[in-house]
Amino acid sequence: MKSAKIVGLGKYLPPKILTNLDLEKRVDTTDEWITTRTGIKSRHIVENNTPVSVLAKEASLIALKRAGIKPKDLDLIIVATITPDTQFPSTACYLQDYLKAKKACCFDVSAACAGFVYALTCAWQFLKTGFYKNALIVGGEVLTSITDWEDRSTCVLFGDGAGAAVLVPTGKDGILSSYLGADGSEADLLILPGGGSRNPVSARVVEERLNYIKMRGNELFRIAVRIMVEAAKKSLRMAKLTSKSVKLLIPHQANIRIINAVAKRLELEGKTYINIDRYGNMSSASSAIALCEAWEEKKIKKDDIIVLDAFGGGLVWGSCVIKWI
Ligand code: ACO
Repeated sequence: MKSAKIVGLGKYLPPKILTNLDLEKRVDTTDEWITTRTGIKSRHIVENNTPVSVLAKEASLIALKRAGIKPKDLDLIIVATITPDTQFPSTACYLQDYLKAKKACCFDVSAACAGFVYALTCAWQFLKTGFYKNALIVGGEVLTSITDWEDRSTCVLFGDGAGAAVLVPTGKDGILSSYLGADGSEADLLILPGGGSRNPVSARVVEERLNYIKMRGNELFRIAVRIMVEAAKKSLRMAKLTSKSVKLLIPHQANIRIINAVAKRLELEGKTYINIDRYGNMSSASSAIALCEAWEEKKIKKDDIIVLDAFGGGLVWGSCVIKWI
C-alpha cells in the first residue's frame, strides 16, 4: 500500500445557535463589527456542559456508517482537540468506549486549529506503512468551555462542533502530500495559560481569568495569512502540483479576511470553501466540518484535487493535498 484515502465523513453541530444579536446583549459589540471584521454571523454552542466526546461520537457514527466500517473493526482512533473532556484520559479513549471500538488504540493530538490536519497526517502514516488497516480521526471542540464571555475581542469568534473521517489504505492517489510545521517561540500569541502544570488550577488562576483563551489577534492575523499561503504552496509542491490543479481549497475558518487574503494569493478565489458565517472558529473542528460539508454539498467529486490548509495556536500549521478517489 502506498497511501490512504477517506471513505467516510461525518459532522455534528450542537443544536443551540448563538447569533451576533445575542452577543450584542452580552458584551459591548455589534453585529456590524463582528460581520465586517470576522465574517461570522452565528455559531453553534453546547448546553449543559456537553463534553467534546459526545460531539465526537455523533460525528463518528455518521462517518463510520458512510464508510461501511463497524466500530469493532477500528484499529486506530485519533481525536484532535484543545478542549478534551479531561486532561487525561484522552478524549479518544472516551470515544472508544462510546463506540465499543475495543480493538482500537487511542490518542489525542493537541495542535489547535491545525489539529485535524495533524491527525490526518498521523493516520495516513499508520495506514500507508501497513501498520493498521483503518483509522477514525476526529476534529472536535467545545471552545465555549474556555471562552471568556467578558472579553469582547475573543468571545465573538468561537463555536463548538465535531467532524470525523474514516480512512483506509489505498494503492495510489488519496492523500498525496502533507506539510506540517510549528513555531513554539510565538506560543504567547494564542494560549490557554491556566489549568496545566505551568499554572495549575488555583484561586489566583480563576481570579486572573487564566482559564480562558488569550489571543493577540492582530499579530496572529498577519502571520496566519503568510504561513497558510506558504504551507499550501509547499504541500502542492510536494505533490508535484500547482494551484491550477486545485478544485477546492478548504482553509481553516478563523476570519473571512484571512480566508480571502489566502485564496487571493493562491489564485483560488471562487474555489475556496467558506462556512465561517454559520459556525465561527471551531479550531480543529473547522477543517473537519468544512471537509464533510463540502462533500455533502457535492463540491468534491471523484479525481478532484483538494487542499486542506490550517493555522493556529502553538504556533502550528499544516496543509494536505488529497486526490479524491
Ligand atoms: N466588537 C467591537 N469592537 C471590538 C471587538 C468587538 N467584538 N473586538 C475588538 N474590538 C475593537 C478593539 O477594542 C479595537 O478598538 P480600538 O481601535 O479602539 O483599540 C478595534 O476593535 C480593533 O481591534 P483589533 O484587535 O485590531 O481588530 P482586528 O481587525 O485585528 O480583528 C480579530 C480582531 C477578529 C481577532 C482578528 O485580528 C483575527 O481574526 N485574528 C486572527 C485570529 C487567528 O487566526 N487565530 C489563529 C487561529 S485560532 C486557534 O488556533 C484556536
